[in-house]
Amino acid sequence: MKIESLEELYIEELRDVYDAEQQLVKALPKMAKAATSDSLRAALEEHLDVTESQVQRLEEIFAELGTKAKGGKCEAMKGLLEEAKELIEDDIDPEVMDVALIMAAQKVEHYEIASYGCLRTFAELLEHEEQAETLQEILDEEKDADENLTEIAETSINLDAVDEEEDDDEVVSKKPSGGDGSE
Ligand SMILES: [Fe+2]
Repeated sequence: MKIESLEELYIEELRDVYDAEQQLVKALPKMAKAATSDSLRAALEEHLDVTESQVQRLEEIFAELGTKAKGGKCEAMKGLLEEAKELIEDDIDPEVMDVALIMAAQKVEHYEIASYGCLRTFAELLEHEEQAETLQEILDEEKDADENLTEIAETSINLDAVDEEEDDDEVVSKKPSGGDGSE
């Protein structure tokens, strides 16, 4: 497709992020199901609600622009979610699984933050003021989700326990296997 103006790029990128959000709506329940900590599961479920409402607000923007929402295929989100899916399918210890899920979710959030930051600026440049406000609102929601994930990683997930377990394993593996006749 030939893109000749900022308006066309804006619409193309809106379609891209619209597709990305729809992919995320499908993936988030699976990620939430794989989470072992209650706070992480709750955060992912809450972000599903937020994401569904973002899809609706994007549809309103397309209606205002008088153009169709469909047509984008976000390969970046597809790749990020494929990685998340691989992690879920891997044989990972429950504590480490949550850390892996947080990492996967934060990669998604950072991608979205970059997209919405640019889209908000494009909307401002194109003097679509209300759309710029909506996109700023969505951007803030993505930033909140990202910060919330950091907080969960710092407060709810016992990373020391993960490490200690590994240390224990090492100790166990170094123990002599018995047979010294002392038992
Ligand atoms: Fe989003």
